[in-house]
Amino acid sequence: MERTAQLSIPNPWGIAFDAWGQHIFAETSGPDVRWMMPGSIKPVYGVASPISPTLVEEKHMVRPTSGLEYVYSSHFPAEMQGDFLINNVIGFLGTKQHQLTDDGTGFKSIHRQDLMQSSDPNFRPVDMEFAPDGSLYIADWHNMLIGHMQHNARDPLRDHVHGRIYRVTYPSKSLVAPAKVDGASINTLLDNLRLPEYRTRYRTRRELRGRNDKEVLTALNAWVKDLDKNDTAYEHNLLEALWVTWGLNKVDKDVLNSLLGAKDFRARAAAVRALRYNGHRITNQLELLQKAAADEHGRVRLEAIVAASWLDKEDGLSILKIASLKPMDVWMKDTYERAFVYLNGTYKPKENREEILTDPKFTAAEKEIFKKGKEIYLRDGFCATCHQKNGLGLQSSGFPPLSGSEWVNQNSERLIKLTLKGMYGPIKVKGANYPGQVPMTPYGGMLKDDEIAAVLSYVRNSFGNKTSFVLPEEVKVIREKIKNKKGFYTSEELLKDHPHEKK
Ligand code: HEC
Repeated sequence: MERTAQLSIPNPWGIAFDAWGQHIFAETSGPDVRWMMPGSIKPVYGVASPISPTLVEEKHMVRPTSGLEYVYSSHFPAEMQGDFLINNVIGFLGTKQHQLTDDGTGFKSIHRQDLMQSSDPNFRPVDMEFAPDGSLYIADWHNMLIGHMQHNARDPLRDHVHGRIYRVTYPSKSLVAPAKVDGASINTLLDNLRLPEYRTRYRTRRELRGRNDKEVLTALNAWVKDLDKNDTAYEHNLLEALWVTWGLNKVDKDVLNSLLGAKDFRARAAAVRALRYNGHRITNQLELLQKAAADEHGRVRLEAIVAASWLDKEDGLSILKIASLKPMDVWMKDTYERAFVYLNGTYKPKENREEILTDPKFTAAEKEIFKKGKEIYLRDGFCATCHQKNGLGLQSSGFPPLSGSEWVNQNSERLIKLTLKGMYGPIKVKGANYPGQVPMTPYGGMLKDDEIAAVLSYVRNSFGNKTSFVLPEEVKVIREKIKNKKGFYTSEELLKDHPHEKK
């Protein structure tokens, strides 16, 4: 067992592998999709490993996401192969499609299209996968209530009955003839490994793992010898063979060595990954990793850096030293630096430096309140989940900004009311209209008076805001005043009692 990637994210509800074994994951609570490999160094207890930059274009960021899949199906157009799909269940209700291309050591993505979108407010696409016939299946959980348990577990609106599965096809292209996997002969299974459909190869590799290893390895040997070296897919076919042998816990050294010297950097990187996990079977693992650390492509070097972090100090550092001789881009830097201090035993956590904490204007007590407020703000399911760490919100998901917001920086009673009871319906913030299909969570039942005061004091003094602190006594009075108010506030209702201040 290992912690593959110990990252500071709550729920990776979507992990997908590309044709070369690189994986990306959806952060789910946040809008980000990231490449996982740079964060997969050997973690230190209680410390989050470095996380790579997000791949999603800012104007197409949505949350909360659930389900991630690469497009690898010859039923869909050629230019879409290798795109990734991501579902979203609040605000934007549907599936976004992003084009993904190699960029330096890592990747770059551009939004291609919204593959599917629904106006049904209960549409909750949560998972998807390409079927054996090349069509795409998307599961809609179809539920009115979703969230972080802010609704009662026995709420009668919880829907245990409805749900749909959608099947997406590309009508002007014919479907794929499903490959035989279950019960197929070993030779048929090996030939499946040449098919363009990732999911078919994936199911095939799983089937092969369950077969007699001697029979598979004998047939595989012949299959590898028969491969056409001039085929553009030759190195990929060879990689599939490597994965089959690894799947049987009998990684093939000759195939591994050929791939470590492959022309395609993606094949070399995949080979280094296999090398990382098979050190107990490959006697010259160290020497091979040292060679990979000097590779001409960053992705191969980064695989070697990550692998080094799992070795003992002397071996690991010898690999890092070689890697350090070549330039490092944004994908490599943090991973390299962290792997180095972990191996060297010199890691020191960074101190949290917040402007307000060094400002003599604030008392020690206020600084403590600010710190407590920040901790609450950043809890999963609390403010940062929707309004983001930087307080800028997410326009395309319907989460308004707190930075510079009149709702934050003006009347504190109005701010306390909306935080205690939540908000719903159309709202205007900093001149922009939000349709308000997304509710703002009510925190009255989750946070005590001093906690509400702390988080609001933090919000009123962060992201460029500079306003007075909110006091627990004021929260207490307002909580009592509105105790009989049922349900969410609307913007209209709040503005009737507390209109915006005239500038
Ligand atoms: C589940 C997502 C979500 C969470 C979590 C959340 N909010 Fe909101 N918030 C919203 C939405 C959506 C609106 C707009 C509501 C409407 O349409 O009436 C909003 C509105 C607001 C507003 C008024 C508009 C603005 O942008 O200034 C404030 C202030 C606010 N939230 C503060 C907070 C604070 C403080 C927390 C944490 C204690 C928090 N929110 C947690 C989604 C969220």
